[in-house]
Amino acid sequence: MGDLLRFGVSAEEDLLESFDRLISKRGYPNRSEALRDLMRDSLVQSRIEEQHDKAEVLGSLTLVYDHHAHDLADRMADLQHDNHGLVVSVLHVHISHDDCMEVIVLRGLAGKIRSLADSLLGLKGVKHGKLFVTVPSHSITERAGSSHAHGHTHNKSRRVAVVGK
Ligand code: NI
Repeated sequence: MGDLLRFGVSAEEDLLESFDRLISKRGYPNRSEALRDLMRDSLVQSRIEEQHDKAEVLGSLTLVYDHHAHDLADRMADLQHDNHGLVVSVLHVHISHDDCMEVIVLRGLAGKIRSLADSLLGLKGVKHGKLFVTVPSHSITERAGSSHAHGHTHNKSRRVAVVGK
C-alpha cells in the first residue's frame, strides 16, 4: 500500500449532502473511506471490462442530460451518427422542463460500445448515466468453454465476458 495523499474535491452542496446521507446509512466512518471504495470499485470494473473488448455484446446506455446545455444535443447526435453501426435504437423522453433522458440500445464489440458510451457520458451537460452490458443468449451457453458449433475453444477471458453482473 502506498503513502496516503490528500486531494481536494469540489461538489455542489446538495450533491454532497445527499452523498453524506448515503455514506452514513451505509456505515462509512467518513467521506474518505467511502470515496476510496468508489475509486477501487471503478478500477476493478475497468479491469474486468478491458479483458473482453473483443466480445460481441448488447448494451443499453441511459443518459440524463440538461436539455439547455449548449450544443449538447448536436454533439450527442454527431457521436451516434459517427457510430451508426453500433446504434440499434434510441428512446428519448422529455422528463422535466430542463431534463431529457435518452436510452440508446447498442450492439457490437464491447470495446467499441464502451468507448462510445464513455464519450457520451463525458459530454458536458450529461448529469447522470450508466451503461448496462449483456450478451446474446447463445453466448451464455458458451460459458462451459468447450468447443461448439463454430468449432473453437473460448479462452478464459471470453468466458469471463458472460459472467459480468
Ligand atoms: Ni427532451
